[in-house]
Order: sequence, then structure tokens, then C-alpha cells
Amino acid sequence: MDSSETEILLNFLNTVNQCNSLEMAEALKMNHQKVVGLLKSIQCFGDVIVCEQTSHNNLQLTKEGEGVVEYGSHEARIFSNIPPDAGIEQKLLFSNVGDQQIAKLGFSKAMSLGWITLDKSAEKPLVRRKVEMVEDEVKQALIKIKESEGRNINDTVKQDLKKRKLIQEIKVTSYNVSKGSDFKLKLEKLETELTSEMIAKGTWKEKQFKDYNFDALGVNIERGHLHPLLKVREQFRQIFLEMGFTEMPTNNFVESSFWNFDSLFQPQQHPARDAHDTFFVSDPMYASDPPKEYMEQVKRVHSLGGYGSQGYKYDWDLNESKKNLLRTHTTAVSARMLYALAKQQQSEFKAVKYFSIDRVFRNETLDATHLAEFHQIEGVVANVGITLGDLMGLLSQFFRKLGIHKLKFKPTYNPYTEPSMEIFSYHEGLKKWVEIGNSGMFRPEMLLPMGLPSNVSVIAWGLSLERPTMIKYGIDNIRDLVGHKVDLKMVETNGICLLDGCER
Ligand code: PHE
Repeated sequence: MDSSETEILLNFLNTVNQCNSLEMAEALKMNHQKVVGLLKSIQCFGDVIVCEQTSHNNLQLTKEGEGVVEYGSHEARIFSNIPPDAGIEQKLLFSNVGDQQIAKLGFSKAMSLGWITLDKSAEKPLVRRKVEMVEDEVKQALIKIKESEGRNINDTVKQDLKKRKLIQEIKVTSYNVSKGSDFKLKLEKLETELTSEMIAKGTWKEKQFKDYNFDALGVNIERGHLHPLLKVREQFRQIFLEMGFTEMPTNNFVESSFWNFDSLFQPQQHPARDAHDTFFVSDPMYASDPPKEYMEQVKRVHSLGGYGSQGYKYDWDLNESKKNLLRTHTTAVSARMLYALAKQQQSEFKAVKYFSIDRVFRNETLDATHLAEFHQIEGVVANVGITLGDLMGLLSQFFRKLGIHKLKFKPTYNPYTEPSMEIFSYHEGLKKWVEIGNSGMFRPEMLLPMGLPSNVSVIAWGLSLERPTMIKYGIDNIRDLVGHKVDLKMVETNGICLLDGCER
């Protein structure tokens, strides 16, 4: 703070006793903003001055209004561009005025004021003056407003000028300032720090200390922020880990059709394998051969059947299965893991519980709730003799940990599970049942070619990560969550994720 400036201000206040900050600024030839800043810093010294905030509306000329003050109103410019004794062609008149917009507005205004007329008797219509002289009242009014900031201006004139966008009303905030109970002309600089020297010499007794400002906000620490999807993902991971599940390695977005479809007993003519639904990779177009022995089993079950199944009765094509794609579901990873499990556990089978949460890709039509990529949460349990009842029980336990208590199951179809169930939960907010996932028991046509023992059943379920995240954070457009339109402020300010009502 410049102490000489504050003293000037205090001296001024001493002579006038009270005044408004705007008058102060004018009298002292200071910028008003500057005066306000000085007043605020004086207030830090206690009751030196009293400031009361007030506001009033001010009339100001717009850029167009300033133009009128300089060159005259649009209609006056039209009038003055018409030769007094002869007419002028409209086109020429407009080009003489210059700005086409101004000419057009001025022309119709001058016509309705009766200043000009369009003479159609000649070969080419001519614009003529209808009166000898005109008074540019608009310009006069604007000059008056400029000088007085809009005081004593007639209300209808004001409305008219506002409608023509020549003036605008702006709110001005200022302060009524008067002397405080502790008014003084000189301000002692307040101490901000108590030093050891002050204590040793005892000078602290005479010093005045600046008050603590307990309302001041701390400085925000700059740091990274977790995206909502990562936060919700972490919650799901915790739930799986608490339930004894092991995370599967999902670090391959590019997958072969073999593991994405064929190993899952999804026939090669299945519509999901169309380029309309799946992103195929052009370079490299083909993956290397799948494990030979297993591939033969897969080929056989697709084309001829086996294990009590008729198969699909078509010519299974190795090339088709080698086509690379962006995986359409993490079930491809589950298939790889179950195959590896069958290879590993030849003698004695031990139960496993696997989970994964990662990205998948689909050639979807994009809308508010669909993107071409999203995250899947998948759980897989393999054990001897487990049943659909185990799946329903496990799903209840899993969703209870998320705070979801009411579940319903609806039969559905997946090429790789039988029976299959869609999972619905009752949404308390929407007051209806909403689909939250898909599940089922992997088919023998998928498990037996892998070499898993015939008494082993595998139950599995999948859901998206985006859906619960959007519900949790109240986001209704997926593009606000993923993609280049994501507001980083949203990422910074959204809260930590604790899934409500969890039984943990
Ligand atoms: N893969 C299924 C999907 O993409 C989900 C699912 C996983 C279904 C496991 C059944 C079993 O929707």
C-alpha cells in the first residue's frame, strides 16, 4: 500500500467528513477501483473509516452510440447525404453513407419520421428530402447522457435508445465513506510478525499488530486428480479383493477373433463379428496361430459338435479366427485364463475366483450414453459342482457390498453361457428396475475343449464401469465423463467415491 496515497485520501475525508467513493475518485483524480482498494486497506487498521456499500444504475453509450455522437444518427446521416435540391438513387445514397447496415436502418427511420420520400415518377426511383432541415435529437440525447451519466433523461427517450442498442444500463457499486471512531490522518504500519528482538527489547508493548484473518482461504495445492472412473474402479477392485478374487491381466486391447469369439463358442457368422459391431485391426491384420491342439477342439465343436452338443454345422475357418480386433469384451481375457487354468491343473482341480476391470471397444452409434469404448467389470468363478444358485448368491453378495439390495434376474441369451441372466436392480431414485449387468454359466462347448474337468462349472458376470460412475456422480452425458470435452474442473472438484450404503 502506498502510504502517501492513503494519507491524501484520509486528508480529503477529514475536510469533507463524508462522501461517496466515486466523488472521492473524481475529486482526487484517481481511478475508482484504486480508491476502493485504498479504502479496503485502510479498513485493516480498525475503525479508522466506515464504508457502506451502495449501488446505482448508470447509463453508458454502446459502441454504436459512440458512433452516433461522432457522426450523427443513422437517419441524420441518410438525410445529410441527400443533395438538398435534387434526388439521389437509393443504391448510390447507401454507398455514400458507407455502412450498409447503418444506411438501411437510417433509411427506414428517416422515412417513418417523414424526413425523406421515395419519388417513383422519374425513370429510376429517387430519394428526396421532404423537409428543409432536421434536428438530430438522438445525437443530442446521447451527448446529454454522456455528460451526465444519464441523470435527468426522459424515460421514453431512454427506453427508445435502449431498444436501438445505443445505450446500456450498467450497475455501479461504490461506497459511502465517513470517519470512524478511531479516525486518524496517519496510519502506523502494522506489524505482521512478532520477532525475538521485539521480545528481548520489550518493544512489542508499543507495537500494533495486524489481526489474523481467519476468513482467508488457504492456497490450493497444485496436484493431480483422479478421474471419477478411476475412483469407482478402485471401489469395485476392493470389493473383489475382499471377496477373495484375483485380478486377471487385461493389458491387451488388441485380441484375436479366436479368443474374443471362437473360444467362446460364438459362431463365425454371428452378427457381432460384423465390422458394423466390431473394430477389426488392419495392421497387423492377422494374429499368430492359436494353440494347435486346442484350436482343433474348438474347430470340431463349432463344425461338428461334441460333448453332447450338435455344434453349428458349418466349415470353421482358421483364417477368420486369426483376424485381429479391438476386444469387444473382457470375456476374451477370461477365456485365455480358463484355458491356462486347464493346462496348469492336470491332476487335481482347485477352485479359482478371477476378476478384471478394463477397457473394451465396440463399433457403436455414439449418443449421450454410448461411446465406442467403455470399461467392463467382470467376475469369474470356477469350481466343482457349482450351480446357477451359487451365481445368484454371489451376485447378491457382490451387489450388497455396493449398497444394492433388491435384485431381479431375467433369462437372456449369450452364445457362451447357458443359462444366462440379465441382472436388474431397483433404482430408488428412478423408482423402477434398471438393467445393471449380464451373467451366466459358461457352456460345456466352451469349457470342455479347453480341457477343464467335466465336473467343473464356471459362473461369470459382467457390467460396465461407466453406468455406476455416471449414477454416482450425477453425470447424464457420457461425453462429460470421457473424451476431449471433459471439464478438468469436474475431475478436480468431484468428491471421493464411497459407494453409499455398502456393507463392508
Ligand atoms: N461378455 C458379456 C458382455 O459383453 C458379459 C458377460 C460376462 C456375460 C460373463 C456373461 C458372463 O456383455
